[in-house]
Amino acid sequence: MTTEIQKTWNDVASHWDDWGPPLRPCREDVQLMRNHVIHWLGKNPVGKLRIFLCGVTPEIVTMDWPCSIELTAMDQSQRMIDAVWPGDLPSMRRALVGNWLQPELEPHSHDVAFNDGGFGFFDHPAGLRELLSSIRFLIRPGGLFVGRNFVQADQRESLPDVLAAARSGRIGNFHCFKWRLAMALQPNVVEGIQQHDIWHAWTAAEIDPTQLPQPGWSERAVRTIEFYRDKPAILRFPTLAEFHELLTESFDEIEICYGHYELSDRCPIVSARPKPSVGA
Ligand SMILES: C[S@@+](CC[C@H](N)C(=O)[O-])C[C@H]1O[C@@H](n2cnc3c(N)ncnc32)[C@H](O)[C@@H]1O
Repeated sequence: MTTEIQKTWNDVASHWDDWGPPLRPCREDVQLMRNHVIHWLGKNPVGKLRIFLCGVTPEIVTMDWPCSIELTAMDQSQRMIDAVWPGDLPSMRRALVGNWLQPELEPHSHDVAFNDGGFGFFDHPAGLRELLSSIRFLIRPGGLFVGRNFVQADQRESLPDVLAAARSGRIGNFHCFKWRLAMALQPNVVEGIQQHDIWHAWTAAEIDPTQLPQPGWSERAVRTIEFYRDKPAILRFPTLAEFHELLTESFDEIEICYGHYELSDRCPIVSARPKPSVGA
């Protein structure tokens, strides 16, 4: 199966080092995620923490875990695993090629599930609902879900406002610009925004990154927008309220926290507990 979104991730895999925060988690994000685990372990001590990870995000895999772990990472892109996964370690971590919607793992076989991004590839609300339900099904009763997701601003920015901010040097990093551009172009979460349209808006704006007033966007970061050219795949950015509404169907005890970096207000870290009453 090669979905449209997989084509993008196959391209990203071969240029992984060009991809940076906030699209990848920074040290502060990892620390916040770790704090959630420590807090949970305080009330739920385990000999070995069984973790399910959506994707192969190396910053999460290699974090300073507060206890011994057995981590299963799942990604549908073999190329992402080949390029980004830090390697299997017997009885400690493994990466599987698979689909989060049909993970083919024992139900309730994990203490904690993590994600860093990746939920914007699912249609809204049906696809995201199915994903959250699938993740919930993997976590044992009383377990924990921790994820960082990208959300639309409560008041969508306009395209001219984002472009003006970029031209006046008020957007420090190209990945932040790319996300703000994408979110400004998205009419609503149901329609989402096609990757090609993000690329098109960038080229139509005719911004020369070398002439911007701020220290500059790295050439390698700017090149990542080329992954979107001619890609029909849709990205979707729910508002936090839209995400929260679906999350509450499968999870409760929801807590939200944020880092302090540029655009962190659109990268909330959510922790939640699987609802005992749903499913099994
Ligand atoms: C986890 S997400 C976000 C990446 C992360 N924020 C990062 O940059 O470190 C990206 C990964 O999700 C994977 N992915 C997307 N949808 C998937 C699905 N339904 N099942 C398995 N993997 C999926 C893609 O192949 C890609 O490697």
